[in-house]
Amino acid sequence: MTRDDTDDTDSTDEIGDSGNASDPSPLIPDGGTATGKDEVVLDPWGSATVSDYRKLFEEFGIEEFDDVLPEVPNPHYLMRRGVIFGNRGYRRVAKAMQNDEPFAALSGFMPTGEPHIGHKLVFDELIWHQQQGGDTYGLIADLEAHSARGLSWEEIDEHSRDYLLSLLALGFDAEEGTLYRQSENRELQDLAFELGSKANYSEFQSIYGFDGETNVSHVQSVVTQMADILYPQLDEPKPTVIPVGPDQDPHVRLARDLAVRMRFFGVTKAYASFELDEDEQLLVAELYRTLDPADFDDGSLRCVHVAQALDGMTPDELGFDAETIASAKAKLDEAGMEPLRPRVRFLDRNATEEAFSALIDAIDGEKRVFDEHIDAFDLTREEAEELAREVEMENDGYGFIMPSSIYHRFMTGLTGGKMSSSVPASHISLMDDPEDGYDKVKSATTGGRETAELQREKGGKADECPVYELYAYLLSGDDDELATEVYEECVGGERLCGGCKEQAAELMREFLEEHQEKREEAEELLDELDIQLESSRR
Ligand code: TRP
Ligand code: SF4
Repeated sequence: MTRDDTDDTDSTDEIGDSGNASDPSPLIPDGGTATGKDEVVLDPWGSATVSDYRKLFEEFGIEEFDDVLPEVPNPHYLMRRGVIFGNRGYRRVAKAMQNDEPFAALSGFMPTGEPHIGHKLVFDELIWHQQQGGDTYGLIADLEAHSARGLSWEEIDEHSRDYLLSLLALGFDAEEGTLYRQSENRELQDLAFELGSKANYSEFQSIYGFDGETNVSHVQSVVTQMADILYPQLDEPKPTVIPVGPDQDPHVRLARDLAVRMRFFGVTKAYASFELDEDEQLLVAELYRTLDPADFDDGSLRCVHVAQALDGMTPDELGFDAETIASAKAKLDEAGMEPLRPRVRFLDRNATEEAFSALIDAIDGEKRVFDEHIDAFDLTREEAEELAREVEMENDGYGFIMPSSIYHRFMTGLTGGKMSSSVPASHISLMDDPEDGYDKVKSATTGGRETAELQREKGGKADECPVYELYAYLLSGDDDELATEVYEECVGGERLCGGCKEQAAELMREFLEEHQEKREEAEELLDELDIQLESSRR
């Protein structure tokens, strides 16, 4: 069901390719060994681990972040260091940043426990986009926490406060940006309802594994998340990035799809009155480009003649498979003497009658009107897309732009394995006592060798070391030199784990002390904000 780079709203997304997925970024290694056996499953409510990031490119079509990195102005250190490893359609957001055009960033947090250093990645990503001029949203996914995780409203209230305090303490500007709770946002829920009418249950079954036992509120929390993702575009369509972990990719894909399904019009290219699939279209485009009308009877390319010309060409010569050639030929034959002429086609997806006639009026130059589409002969595809969006918006449509996403790597737990909120020693909460933070780092697993001697000889395995991750993801901050120094000294055998952990532990203690001071300062700010801290629900 999920069409990624659909015909219309997202032509700029098509540029990204998902080829060459194997070279790891310089500072963060590709976690996982590809055995080819273990299946990668992206489950928003399952355990948040990914055994092999490469598979996310190959199997899910997530694009590599490195491909867009050169287009990002002043990239954040998480981008530079490869912690942010993937994206969908982020080029469009990067372009908006380059051109000083409006863009937005939004992410959400399920208030199921204390915010920890994994959440800090997302907080930082939001704050960075806000500092780059983005319209930025942080939301509390309380409906999801209640319906998918079964938390009580009381627990939710408590955790929500903690998430918000950390977000503010890390630098989120609440005057510039927007914070909301799903449960208190009526506009959001209205949008969720509208979006729900464009999705059906069997789709939810196949995307999320929902079955007859799934509670209905959980289903509702999914459409709510779809609404979250499109919420920044309610006033006006704009490129929007959703920074999340890759476990949220199923949500992102569905939201990208729904954004398209909500559109009044689709815009495609066509060469004659009939429809072509993607491959047929490429073939016909190629024929149009290479055949010379002067070689034909009456000096024009008529469909049936082009079909005849195809007869003399082999799949090898054409570079298309026999099936595509046969189906394109059949359509061309059928169209008979109709001339082949490139045009853009507006397809009626959800337009009201008024909007459809408004579009007809708005199209300049030669046009042909059919029951459910309009062909325009004097517009480029870009002009057509712009026009379609304009007319949609003038007629009470949303005109959504496909949302984009960026994905960060999950941090390894301090005890090895996955970082889990339910295993305190595996993670560091942003609310941990600084001394506990210090101790947790001191007793973390490392990528060190059995003895100091071996370490000096062979070097440590920074690539497999949770302590190194702490440096790269958090403790070095914007200072690339520190991260690089730790890495190089480690693998070069100049760094031993004892001292390395001591340094990291001290930095962690400092970070926590400072963060918690800022949290205290944020208390007052939070109470002044226009966000309901005590749910009226019980
Ligand atoms: N489902 C997300 C989680 O599990 C929370 C969330 C809700 C969210 N709405 C969102 C994330 C919108 C990103 C964008 O944590
Ligand atoms: Fe990890 Fe530091 Fe030991 Fe290297 S020296 S393995 S980075 S703890």
